[in-house]
Amino acid sequence: MKHTNQQQYTFPFAEFTSSDQLNPEEKALVERAMEASFKAYNPYSKFNVGAAVLLDNGKIITGNNQENAAYPSGLCAERVALFYASSQYPDAAVKMLAIVASKDGQVIKAPVPPCGSCRQVFIEWENRFKKPFIVIMAGTEKIIRVEKAEWLLPFNFQADFL
Ligand code: THU
Repeated sequence: MKHTNQQQYTFPFAEFTSSDQLNPEEKALVERAMEASFKAYNPYSKFNVGAAVLLDNGKIITGNNQENAAYPSGLCAERVALFYASSQYPDAAVKMLAIVASKDGQVIKAPVPPCGSCRQVFIEWENRFKKPFIVIMAGTEKIIRVEKAEWLLPFNFQADFL
């Protein structure tokens, strides 16, 4: 069936092959996310995810995935980091968030994109502080940088629908 009102959603992102191509602030954040991944509590998946959040007050908060015997009760690294950041610094906007995943003590090759629920949470922060933030997904062979978290979730849910 032919539709005449087709729309298209596109967004830009940058791709790198090494963290040496990032600026020092970005590289340091990726480093912190990597370290955080090694401390994940993940006895069920054994998949380590680390997230590091750079706040506009200069603080860096890290988090990692926290699992539970009742699987859905666990939480992703990104939300652990963001919720903790907000609980400690409720007035600080997020500048940048880096995500790194590792397995058996080794960072994985591919960048790991955040799950849909985390993307929705990212948008809450952008709306709340009226400021977009950068998302960096870093693997050892590929790194992706997106300038606005919102771009990762088209047709996201907005509070003004309520
Ligand atoms: N996980 C994260 O922490 N972040 C993501 O972006 C994707 C998945 C965690 C949840 C769970 O502990 C494990 O990775 C496997 O899904």
